[in-house]
Amino acid sequence: MSEEHDPCTPITCGVNNDDDSSVVLDYHDIDEQVLQNMVYDALVWASLNGLVVGHKSLQRSGSVPGVGLVHAPFSLLPTAFPENHWRQACDLAPIFNELVDRVSLDGKFLQESLSRTRKADEFTSRLLDIHSKMLEINKKEDIRLGLHRSDYMLDEQTKSLLQVELNTVSSAFAGLSCVVSELHRSILSHYGKFIGLDSEKVPANSAVNQYAEALAKAWTEYNLPGAVILFVVQAEEQNMYDQHFLSVVLRERHGITTIRKTLAEADQQGELLPDGTLLVDGQRIAVIYFRAGYTPADYPSESEWKARLLMEQSSAIKCPSISYHLVGTKKIQQELAKPNVLERFLENKDDIAKLRKCFAGLWSLDEPDIVRKAIESPELFVMKPQREGGGNNIYGDAVRETLQKLQKEGSQGDAAYILMQKIFPNISAAIMMRNGSLHKENAVSELGIFGAYLRNNDKVVLNNQSGYLLRTKVSSSDEGGVAAGFAVLDSVYLT
Ligand SMILES: Nc1ncnc2c1ncn2[C@@H]1O[C@H](COP(=O)(O)OP(=O)(O)O)[C@@H](O)[C@H]1O
Ligand SMILES: [Mg+2]
Repeated sequence: MSEEHDPCTPITCGVNNDDDSSVVLDYHDIDEQVLQNMVYDALVWASLNGLVVGHKSLQRSGSVPGVGLVHAPFSLLPTAFPENHWRQACDLAPIFNELVDRVSLDGKFLQESLSRTRKADEFTSRLLDIHSKMLEINKKEDIRLGLHRSDYMLDEQTKSLLQVELNTVSSAFAGLSCVVSELHRSILSHYGKFIGLDSEKVPANSAVNQYAEALAKAWTEYNLPGAVILFVVQAEEQNMYDQHFLSVVLRERHGITTIRKTLAEADQQGELLPDGTLLVDGQRIAVIYFRAGYTPADYPSESEWKARLLMEQSSAIKCPSISYHLVGTKKIQQELAKPNVLERFLENKDDIAKLRKCFAGLWSLDEPDIVRKAIESPELFVMKPQREGGGNNIYGDAVRETLQKLQKEGSQGDAAYILMQKIFPNISAAIMMRNGSLHKENAVSELGIFGAYLRNNDKVVLNNQSGYLLRTKVSSSDEGGVAAGFAVLDSVYLT
């Protein structure tokens, strides 16, 4: 793992030269023998350094460590990304962190903005129920921890960096993204001279250390010796090593124990002490880190909802709290993009302008003009339900069909969705590694910037950009999930 280093500062200064991207990254010109050697070395390096996931064909690989490992899908070489846009994305992280915190304090705004959605979407409604209960008892969250990831695409036509979404729950790949950046630096330090690439132009990535540090600082603020950090996980998680990277750093660097429980286990084994302390399996919990609970599939019975409520009622630090979770919904993203809404939450005019600049077009379905446009030209829009985790969005002709169906039904069903301007990023050549095989593809990339925020009453303990993730997917695919098999893990080559 890399030493701590400001990931926004390249190790050496990249020359800001527009020609760079075309010169450096035409992988089709790479000599075949060099390519084969690079592939072999990269696969060995990935295996030796834990760039791994469980293999879907082996069920136990999602629950028993050390079983059925395969390398995580990755890009053989990093992808060109303009340094100015990279810096812009890094600069936005602390502003988004602060925005999430401010919006989370406005319970009325969250409830009102989501009130129509609530009627159309059962899952959002259940989350809002928990939130209402906390408002009723006037629950205070003095210590607030956010581990967010803001995702962006670079719109080719306008050359602007546009936000895809802000993840406030279970932001994945703080662990594996660091390993990919190191892999690319390692490969380029050896093969760079053959292919005209410089390893120093891959920014160092310390996401895992920074996330672990944020969790450790939260644990310290909670100040209960002997308490542990609870990772709330899915029963089967092929991406568990990404999470274990964090646990290992917490243990080895910070001396903090983590335990892993599903929501169902937290229900069976959890109890609240009269002072609000959460006990799970007899252990006192300082911080609850949710790597599950963001999708309806994580709540197959009432038991899981009971666990979520119990945890929210406790005094443990929740990452995220129910209000942080709601701020990350697509509906709130769309509400924040309306005129004069950011001004309700932030004072600094420059910050507001920076945020607004990265907002793509976002609309609710109660705007008839936009719905008409989307029916006419569905290819220019993405339709999104209130879901996380990939594979839920609607594209192309299905946008038209779904909108027409909703119009016919004339019910509140449209409130379950938002419409978003479709972003068209630059297409470049990529070499994707999956299951030990190489695939040369035309691809587009999505940059994720990790952010960490920790506040204890009036004291802002942390507000940082905390590393990055690039995901590169076949350009013909609309969705971008790595776990879902659409995308590969990648890192940035600054140009
Ligand atoms: N406005 C958009 N333009 C182009 N592609 C998009 C847009 N919004 C989402 N996508 C694609 O769909 C994927 C999933 O959408 P996202 O909003 O991130 O939802 P999820 O919560 O499921 O990750 C993204 O990773 C991206 O590849
Ligand atoms: Mg996403």
